[in-house]
Amino acid sequence: MVHNILATALALPLLVASLPSIVSRSSLPPCSNVDRPCSCPAGATFRNITTYATIGATANDIGDLTNNFFETTWFNLTLLSTTGIYNEYGATRTFSIGDSATLTEELIESETYHDGSFIQRYRQNPDPPEVEKPGGGGTFDGYWETFSVQQTSVSDESTVIYAAYRCDIGDPFDTAGFHQGVINDAISVLTSEGLLTGTNVAPYSTNS
Ligand SMILES: *[C@@H]1O[C@H](CO)[C@@H](O)[C@H](O)[C@H]1NC(C)=O
Ligand SMILES: *[C@@H]1O[C@H](CO)[C@@H](O)[C@H](O)[C@H]1NC(C)=O
Repeated sequence: MVHNILATALALPLLVASLPSIVSRSSLPPCSNVDRPCSCPAGATFRNITTYATIGATANDIGDLTNNFFETTWFNLTLLSTTGIYNEYGATRTFSIGDSATLTEELIESETYHDGSFIQRYRQNPDPPEVEKPGGGGTFDGYWETFSVQQTSVSDESTVIYAAYRCDIGDPFDTAGFHQGVINDAISVLTSEGLLTGTNVAPYSTNS
């Protein structure tokens, strides 16, 4: 991964330099989880949706609820099948998004640290990338998400970043509203388990 990013970063200026007449959006690298300008498939529009929150609980307790790639009930989706090994690179999960439509996501990074902080990165499985959301909202033409929980220096407070890059045709889904909703649902579960003893900062999103 690091090697590929480096290779892309090194190769791009050469490509641009050797082809000055076709410097355009199509010369950008394809979209991925990496934070840089990128190129969506023809006809799709890039979107960048990032949700931030602070949860008044330890990263360990938040992780017990959310840091399992094969456990989708905390974000209300019905898991249909998995492949690979739990929380290991290349694992996939497939869930229903209504009618007979399904989405598959592939884990491309999973790290858990000694203090309970963790990060998961995954992408819409690219085979095939186009999935139409039932209800006519639009088509997912690739998306890349990062879910990260960082323990702060306050023992019972952790910051949450839930970030999505998407290539959409139309507007398939209100990801910002959904991510805010499932963070609030997680806060409710932690509260009911007596694990919410710190202060929350309610989730908010940037959407561009
Ligand atoms: C996406 O939005 C976040 C938050 O505003 C920003 O930090 C990041 O640079 C943006 N990424 C891209 C590729 O636009
Ligand atoms: C998840 O499901 C629960 C139980 O049906 C519901 O109360 C909650 O609003 C749902 N959350 C989201 C974000 O859809």
